[in-house]
Parts: sequence; C-alpha cells; structure tokens
Amino acid sequence: IARNFSSSSAMQSAIKNVTVIGGGLMGSGIAQVSAQAGQNVILVDVSSDVLAKSQKSIGANLGRVAKKMYKDKPQEGEKFVTDAMARIKTSTDPSEASKSADLVVEAIVENMSVKHKLFSQLDAVAPNHTIFASNTSSLSINEICSVVKRKDRFGGLHFFNPVPVMRLLEVVRGAETSDATYKTMMEWGKAVGKTCITCKDTPGFVVNRLLVPYICEAIRLYERGDASARDIDTAMKLGAGYPMGPLELADYVGLDTNKFILDGWHKKYPDQPLFNPIPLLDKLVAEGKLGVKAGEGFYKYD
Ligand code: CAA
Ligand code: NAD
Repeated sequence: IARNFSSSSAMQSAIKNVTVIGGGLMGSGIAQVSAQAGQNVILVDVSSDVLAKSQKSIGANLGRVAKKMYKDKPQEGEKFVTDAMARIKTSTDPSEASKSADLVVEAIVENMSVKHKLFSQLDAVAPNHTIFASNTSSLSINEICSVVKRKDRFGGLHFFNPVPVMRLLEVVRGAETSDATYKTMMEWGKAVGKTCITCKDTPGFVVNRLLVPYICEAIRLYERGDASARDIDTAMKLGAGYPMGPLELADYVGLDTNKFILDGWHKKYPDQPLFNPIPLLDKLVAEGKLGVKAGEGFYKYD
C-alpha cells in the first residue's frame, strides 16, 4: 500500500506513518486524530463494511472539528476535512499495511488470543524500527507482547472514548519497553494533540482502575435499590461535577465491555471484592441490553 500523501503540519514526532488496526469505535478515532495532526494513516479492519462506516464517521467528526476551528472560514474548514481524509487509506490486510509503518496501534477486539495472533503475524513483516502499541482497556501489555521479538519496541497507548474529544492518552511502559520507545510514544501522543500520562503495566492503568470499580459500585447501589438510576446519575453530575453519571457512562462505554473487563479482573484477582461479578450487569448483558449501541441498557435510546 503506497503512502503517496504528504504530511503538512510540522511534526514533533519521529512517527510519520501510522497503521491503526481495528476500524471500530476507538480505531476510527485514533485514525482521525492522527490524520488531523498531519500523519499518514492506514486504517485496517477485517471488514470492508466497517471501514466504509469508519470513513463516514471520521468525515462527520472532522466536520464538527472544522466547524469550530474555522468558524468564519468555511472554505478553509472544507480543505481541512478533505486534506485529513486524504491522509487516511484503508486496508483489510494488516500485514501489508504494516510494512510501511513507523507505529502500529492495535485497537481490535479485547481478546488476548486474537491480539496474540495479530502481533505475531505483524512482528514477522513489519520493519525493524516499527513500534507496536496496544489500545487495550484491561489486558496486560506484558502478556500481549509476549509473542513478539521486539519487546523493547512495544507499549500501551490507551485512548479514551470519544477519542477526538477526550484529551488524555495513557502511555504504558511494559517491563521491557525501552527508553527510546517510551520517549517516541510520548512525543507522538503530544503530536496528535493529547496530554500524556505515564503508567506501569497494572490492571486498568490509571483511569480504568478507578473508573471501572466506580461504575461497578454505582450498579451495585442501583441493584440494591438504594436510589433510582436517574438520581444516581444526577448525584454524580451535580454533586461531583462529572460530565456523565456512572450509569449513563456504563451505557456509553457498553455494558458488555464493562462486564468483560470485570470478569477478566475477577478471574485474575479473585480476592479483590471490587472485581466481584454483579448479577444485574450479567442479566442486562444476557438480555442484549448493552447500552447506547444496542438502544437499551440502564436507559432506553432512540
Ligand atoms: N467527535 C468529535 N467531536 C465530538 C464527538 C466526536 N465523536 N462527540 C462529541 N464531540 C464534541 C461536540 O462537537 C462538542 O463540542 P463543543 O462543545 O466544542 O461544541 C463537545 O464534544 C461536547 O459534545 P456534546 O455537546 O454533543 O455532548 P456533551 O457536552 O454531553 O459531551 C461527552 C459529550 C464529551 C461524551 C461528555 O459527556 C463526556 O466527557 N463524557 C464522559 C466520557 C468519558 O468518561 N469517557 C471515558 C470513558 S472510559 C474509556 O474510554 C476507557 C476505556 O478503556 C473503556
Ligand atoms: P469495536 O468492536 O468498536 O472495534 C473493533 C474492531 O476490530 C471491529 O471493527 C472488528 O471488525 C475489528 N477486528 C477484530 N479483529 C481484527 C483483526 N484481527 N484484524 C483487524 N481488525 C479486527 O471495539 P472498540 O471499542 O473500538 O475497542 C477496541 C480496543 O480498544 C479494545 O482493546 C478495547 O478494550 C479498547 N478500548 C475501548 C474503549 C471503549 O470505550 N470502547 C476505550 C479505550 C480502549
């Protein structure tokens, strides 16, 4: 896949060519912010339908950004969108798409064996200098990178949903991540407009280690009947200044994702009561009430 596009903005980062694997919710956001920052992007998914949808949503989200950035200059706004879109190529072949990458960011399904399969395949074909990173929410970076030879050029780059809006990037150092890789990841994060924090390879890093138990406690509180869903959410919005209440946020992140993270941690740390299963969460997921994406979770959505 030829990257015949030029990068316009002056980059602080050694990374020019980014391959994002997984064109879902997170991958399309990561592709967008990278392209916005002048990087050449290849967005990869197993499904070309997903890629078509991603391109559409990236175009719409870039439009939102352009409207704000170029309020009184709609023509410049249009150019901003067209230029950024032109920097994003798509592919259904992860190996081919990684051959010209300086950085590969993986945002595929949260499943260790699927991630292992992908990274061992890419390790064999990507150039020596290419850095691999995972956007995993809850899995161990050391465990994910156990299948590659380039453990010094591997780390975590954990973005937040919605990627174009949330300003944080967690840069996770694995046991063998080199100083040079860490430095490049931090510089790249800054170049794509994020504020970076550093974290060791611990469950949930910083944000999810705090946010997931908080959401789970809110579900338990609701399950016990201590307060209504609306009141729990209103309480945290007005009493603690959160932009969304915990149950709204659970619906937004996806109840399946919440359950998946909790189950994984419970299995690994059975003595930690904060990670205990929640019958109500299990029930909603079993009923297909997965939150916003399914039209129903704790709330109903049109
Ligand atoms: N792309 C680009 N811009 C977007 C956007 C998107 N996908 N979604 C919203 N925006 C922009 C809007 O254009 C708007 O911009 P202005 O205010 O400058 O006009 C701004 O973001 C706010 O959007 P809205 O007015 O539509 O809605 P809102 O004020 O209710 O904000 C929200 C929406 C930003 C999502 C806010 O509710 C929020 O911050 N919620 C908490 C989100 C959160 O906690 N995320 C982390 C989840 S955990 C995670 O991601 C980690 C994990 O591993 C699971
Ligand atoms: P998603 O289901 O929206 O997207 C995943 C995409 O990966 C799908 O389009 C799927 O077709 C594709 N895919 C699966 N296997 C693939 C493969 N082998 N090669 C190429 N593409 C493949 O999921 P998402 O919410 O974007 O999450 C992706 C990753 O990001 C997960 O590791 C998740 O834990 C993490 N994450 C999610 C959130 C969130 O709030 N949803 C936040 C931060 C991190």
